[in-house]
Amino acid sequence: MKIMVVGGGGREHAIIKKLKESPAAGQIYALPGNGGIAADAVCVPIAATALDEIVGFAVRESIDFAVVAPDDPLVMGLVDLLSEKGIPCFGPTKAAAAIEGSKSFAKGLMEKYGIPTAACRVFDRYEEALDYVRGVDRYPTVIKADGLALGKGVVIAPDRETAESALRDMMLGGRFGKSGETVVIEEYLEGPEVSVLAFTDGETVVPMVSSMDHKRALDGDKGPNTGGMGTVAPNPFYTDEVAETCMQRIFLPTVRAMKAEGRPFRGCLYFGLMLTKDGPKVIEYNCRFGDPETQVVLPLLESDLLTVMQACASGALTAEQVKFRRGAACCVILASAGYPGSYEKGYEITIPDDLDAVVYHAGSVLKDGRLVTAGGRVLGVTATGDTLGQAVERAYAAVDRVKFQNAFCRRDIGQKALQRKGRS
Ligand code: AMP
Ligand code: GLY
Repeated sequence: MKIMVVGGGGREHAIIKKLKESPAAGQIYALPGNGGIAADAVCVPIAATALDEIVGFAVRESIDFAVVAPDDPLVMGLVDLLSEKGIPCFGPTKAAAAIEGSKSFAKGLMEKYGIPTAACRVFDRYEEALDYVRGVDRYPTVIKADGLALGKGVVIAPDRETAESALRDMMLGGRFGKSGETVVIEEYLEGPEVSVLAFTDGETVVPMVSSMDHKRALDGDKGPNTGGMGTVAPNPFYTDEVAETCMQRIFLPTVRAMKAEGRPFRGCLYFGLMLTKDGPKVIEYNCRFGDPETQVVLPLLESDLLTVMQACASGALTAEQVKFRRGAACCVILASAGYPGSYEKGYEITIPDDLDAVVYHAGSVLKDGRLVTAGGRVLGVTATGDTLGQAVERAYAAVDRVKFQNAFCRRDIGQKALQRKGRS
């Protein structure tokens, strides 16, 4: 089968490496891919948001199966366009991708179907939002841009001043463009966070192994929010009992709600959960695999990813098709100093070939045959082990042997999970 994967980050690299293991996989194309992905797929220089060019390529090359990984093309409707041409796709339609593309839609859905989440108010007029914020008596409060904002559209405001300036930035200052014209103001929740990615064909939902992201830039969860600095799987806070509660109160109700709304969701549905003292609540939905969650989840997947993705696309998913191996995985992101702010690029990357880990490329390009840095998040180094401790140790041993100038990473990925395990 000729397969096309849309996207060009660490998540797409992990998807491609896993797809390659499938006996049915033939040529794999990455659009646009990156310098490291070029070792595993044919990279085609078409941006993930150039929808017409992507459709043209897929038709010309008689692509048999497409995987659309990033949020932007999903929310813009790439799956609808490819489906019109008769190309089977893994990923939700535009209508279903609104679960991530519009936070106000997602909040409305949860309210209508009784799915636990933070209480919230939605505003599209600045004065009304301002009035509301002035009346809030409990801080912190949480202000979110309605649309996509590269994971940066959330402000946890410790006081009224910060809340007011966030509203000004988003609603008047155009900080996130159209994405910020509508805002969601919600209750601040506390508790451990868990990411659960789930395969779904619109009816059946099969959760993957749970994971934990580390979103802040610096050790000890300090510094600004990023796209994610590292992950571990499984997440020790997510016990079997919590998993069962989430299945009954969150996963099944969400998939049923989307179907009832005439927007059946097929693909990977990402549940960002907070385990509060009142039970698990949804912080956010994503309409896609998480990054860097995918870099720890897929290495633990035992089943054939292509078969599972095809089952999601055709409405034939069963729980038996999805098997994970025991053990754990840890992914440490190597980033360019300065990320998530401005950073330098163009530094040569050296990766020994006898690493006890897999290196997923997020921001690298090939220049005169050499790999050089080209992004904020450059590499994701993933190791697996029988235990989480072993996986963490192996990941850092590998990280210390991968070199590029101005590299930085968090040194405490997995520590919170290990402490929790120590207590349980
Ligand atoms: P999001 O982009 O919605 O995932 O938000 C980014 C991060 O902000 C989350 O991973 C949480 O750590 C935090 N966050 C979002 N919503 C809330 C909330 N209602 N209460 C507390 N923290 C939140
Ligand atoms: N790692 C969080 C996300 O993919 O949105």
